[in-house]
Amino acid sequence: MTPGLRPLIAGNWKMNTLVREAVDLAKAVVAGSGSVKAELLVCPPFPYVAGLAGMLAGSTVAVGAQDCHARDKGAHTGDVAATMLRDCGATHVILGHSERRADHGETDAMVKAKASAALAAGLVPIVCVGETLAQREAGQALEVVHGQIAGSLPEGFVAAGGVVAYEPVWAIGTGKTPTEEDIAAVHAAMRAQVGAATRLLYGGSMKPGNAAAILALPNVDGGLIGGAALVAADFLAIAKAAG
Ligand code: PGA
Repeated sequence: MTPGLRPLIAGNWKMNTLVREAVDLAKAVVAGSGSVKAELLVCPPFPYVAGLAGMLAGSTVAVGAQDCHARDKGAHTGDVAATMLRDCGATHVILGHSERRADHGETDAMVKAKASAALAAGLVPIVCVGETLAQREAGQALEVVHGQIAGSLPEGFVAAGGVVAYEPVWAIGTGKTPTEEDIAAVHAAMRAQVGAATRLLYGGSMKPGNAAAILALPNVDGGLIGGAALVAADFLAIAKAAG
């Protein structure tokens, strides 16, 4: 945790839930959010953003999206603009998740352009970075993360409250996590790069059982939660571990 920064616990629902499940999950998160001090965010699939944002208006749980396009409108079939998401009530958008970098060939430059669009639309971008297993084994984790941050954060990111999430690719959905020392080392390097004001999340197999230890590390200001965010009780237990 970084003194002065309110922790953010963000749920990345990925491509999961049908409407009924999304509504029930969101309701359960709100119902259990009373004693949570951390900022709470849920990021459902695109079709549910507007509905959930309407439903959760007035609660302490914010709604975000999992991607946006770099342009405001135009001939981009199947894409969604940051302005549309903001108009639907979203407040945040996850960008550059490793699954998008892998599935859609997103580069740092593309992530930077999307983050710029998000800022212009009034959304808080949560930019994801992280090394692959091969890169970690080759001793390149710090260098990879440094390069992704340098290439993916647009001007104005820090001033607008942009968030960076460190998500080692090999820890996502695998049940494996880096050691606390390794997480602390990456987060210290990110802190040195982005300055004191930016929240730095950890993501990758964060669960109720390991959340307290990870969230207690210096420069870890919250979590980006995948699998455990699909179970309201687990997501809330992680949030409570943030203090
Ligand atoms: P996980 O996913 O918690 O299921 O590992 C995290 C993420 O991809 O954001």
